[in-house]
Amino acid sequence: MSIRYQEKTGQLILETASTSYQMNIDGMGYLKHQYYGKKLGQNDMSYLFRTYDHGFSGNPYDMRNNRDYSLDSMAQEYTSFGVGDFRVNSIAASCSNGSRCAEFRYETHEILDGKYAVPGLPYVYDDNDTVHTLIVSLIDTVANIRVKLYYGVFEEKDVITRTAEIINAGSETVWLRKASSMCLELPFGKWDMIHFHGRHCMERQPERVPLFHGVHTLMSGRGMSSHQHNPFVILCDPETTEAHGSCYGMMLMYSGNHKTEIELDQFDSTRVVMGINDDRFRWELGPGMSFQTPEVILSTANGLTELSHRFHRIIRHNVVRSEYKLSHRPVLINNWEATYFDLNEEKIVALAQKAADIGVELFVLDDGWFKNRTDDNAGLGDWIPDTEKLPNGLDGLIAKINGMGLKFGLWVEPEMVNEDSDLYRAHPDWAMTAPNRAPMMARNQLVLDLSREDVHEYIFNTLSALLTKYNITYIKWDFNRPLADVYSHAARPPRQGEVTHRYYLSLYRLYDRLTKAFPHVLFEGCAGGGGRFDAGMLQYSPQIWCSDNTDAISRLTIQYGTSFGYPISTIGSHVSAIPNHQTGRLTPLNTRGTVAMMGAFGYELDLTKLSDEELDEMRAQIKRFKELEPMIHDGLYYRLSSMKESGYYFAWQFVSPDLSRSLLSIVVTNPLANAAPVHVTLKGLDPDAVYSVNGEFECLGAALMHGGYTFPRLTGDYPSMQLDIVKVK
Ligand code: DGJ
Repeated sequence: MSIRYQEKTGQLILETASTSYQMNIDGMGYLKHQYYGKKLGQNDMSYLFRTYDHGFSGNPYDMRNNRDYSLDSMAQEYTSFGVGDFRVNSIAASCSNGSRCAEFRYETHEILDGKYAVPGLPYVYDDNDTVHTLIVSLIDTVANIRVKLYYGVFEEKDVITRTAEIINAGSETVWLRKASSMCLELPFGKWDMIHFHGRHCMERQPERVPLFHGVHTLMSGRGMSSHQHNPFVILCDPETTEAHGSCYGMMLMYSGNHKTEIELDQFDSTRVVMGINDDRFRWELGPGMSFQTPEVILSTANGLTELSHRFHRIIRHNVVRSEYKLSHRPVLINNWEATYFDLNEEKIVALAQKAADIGVELFVLDDGWFKNRTDDNAGLGDWIPDTEKLPNGLDGLIAKINGMGLKFGLWVEPEMVNEDSDLYRAHPDWAMTAPNRAPMMARNQLVLDLSREDVHEYIFNTLSALLTKYNITYIKWDFNRPLADVYSHAARPPRQGEVTHRYYLSLYRLYDRLTKAFPHVLFEGCAGGGGRFDAGMLQYSPQIWCSDNTDAISRLTIQYGTSFGYPISTIGSHVSAIPNHQTGRLTPLNTRGTVAMMGAFGYELDLTKLSDEELDEMRAQIKRFKELEPMIHDGLYYRLSSMKESGYYFAWQFVSPDLSRSLLSIVVTNPLANAAPVHVTLKGLDPDAVYSVNGEFECLGAALMHGGYTFPRLTGDYPSMQLDIVKVK
């Protein structure tokens, strides 16, 4: 059993294959945090904590004679609020008498087989793993609020999940103002924070900074997990590298407004509070009602590579639910950068024919296929094919595309509406707009109020009708603006603070219904590129369009940053045209292919304008990707260059699960005159096996891992190289 309770000491111990997590119910009933890290032979870590009078940190009333005992300095599993812990709190609420205090003490706990579910929200599920659940109930008997803390222990995968359920156990309404998913204390040690910030076309840029005293806040209030701050953060020892050192990864499985607060306090203790962003959040909790927070995925490891591998494995196996989760992803061509809105049947058929000729498997018809969609001013909401552009209708086009041996996929942006649409004219109150206020516009569109049941049904019915009527095997689900003027015309004024979260509950239910009704359809998430690249979306869409920036050199950093938390199979990545449409850069086709192969591979350019030589090279790329895909998606991925080297080169490596094969890739981003050759040490090979290196020489795995490999000098514009490393004996 991976969860143990030791009654004598009040210890609750969670253990995975190589980590342990400890908490302690103390004599006062407070649930203290004791340890999270490498698995230990020794169980009780309470010896670590010495208490003394900290000055200006008060004491609970029943401990008033013990100035050493203060919530303000105690490591806790979930905090109280308003009663003397002045650090960032996990929860805040107001009661009907106006009081804004609660002090939670242990009530009971349960240990269960299997993994708990998170009602209404995506969650990490049990995929034939050894999983146990711990539920600890805390209660404040004055405010009558109960907090149930859930812990899922994935033994083999070295992952712990957490969520909290907040219950109104009284007879009066309570208003929740903050409801975090978890509090994780790191009472000792110095930490660097690695976070993933960015902007549209430059998502998930890694930044590593030492924590300073105060509160670091990473958040999105944009109604989407956002291009700006991904809901994933790593804390690591300042000495931690890819290969060694203590590190913790924390990922919120949520696509809406999120907040991570990391406080380095007056006593040099670190506290992380992660969950829904409390800004503009307010949830009415009637008697007996409960609120369920999104789930957090936690892991700790020795080195950043091991940490990434744990997140990759759990997301690939226990987060993604689609039947595509472990299977081949069709090599696709998307027409967006080939035609933009200026599409018609003739152009699409010509593009599809070229794509079929080089071995592409799926044609994706992007934005612009529906009525009045000549630009981004009109049409969203009315999902009726444009018969001027497509005179034979969508079915006529699909028949032609299928006739070439290609599957067909369609772009939709179902959560949006243009003012210039029949839908908006019929239902202006379905759009999110604040009363008596002109709304913020973005890309000339408004967001449909998905917190409304009628809007939910409309979208479900519209998408179901498309998927039933046409032979569609793939959907690209886009989302091209943030939420502003958040207001539901169907909700009472006191409940307006619930709208954004209700929007996401409805979106997840919609995705759940559609993916169950159409299990053979591959959904690819998208939000102006990677603006909703999160574990919540990955439950339903096994891959997400990583960025609207298709420049291979920009993509190196975007994909590198994404790889810390998310598996390679989830990263939608395409070869696009030169000069690149976002940056104007000229990058060789070979390099564009090398970079796009670090993902779910495809093309997005006008093939009809390319030479036969270029098409031949693409044909070879597709053949190669299909052959290597099982290793790229199922194998282990290693970052061989660090953030420091990225101004010169990026190098990375895939190793097949049975260690019989590896692919080493390098792209030189800035060839330097007279520079030392690029030298890397390979990872993850069988040390005793002999490998052929690109058919050029044979070498022991141990030699490649300890002696390494020296690349030949690569010059010119963004040169790249892929090396096949194949076990020969
Ligand atoms: C944003 C997406 O990220 C693009 O790939 C494309 O689908 C456009 N939207 C279409 O409007």
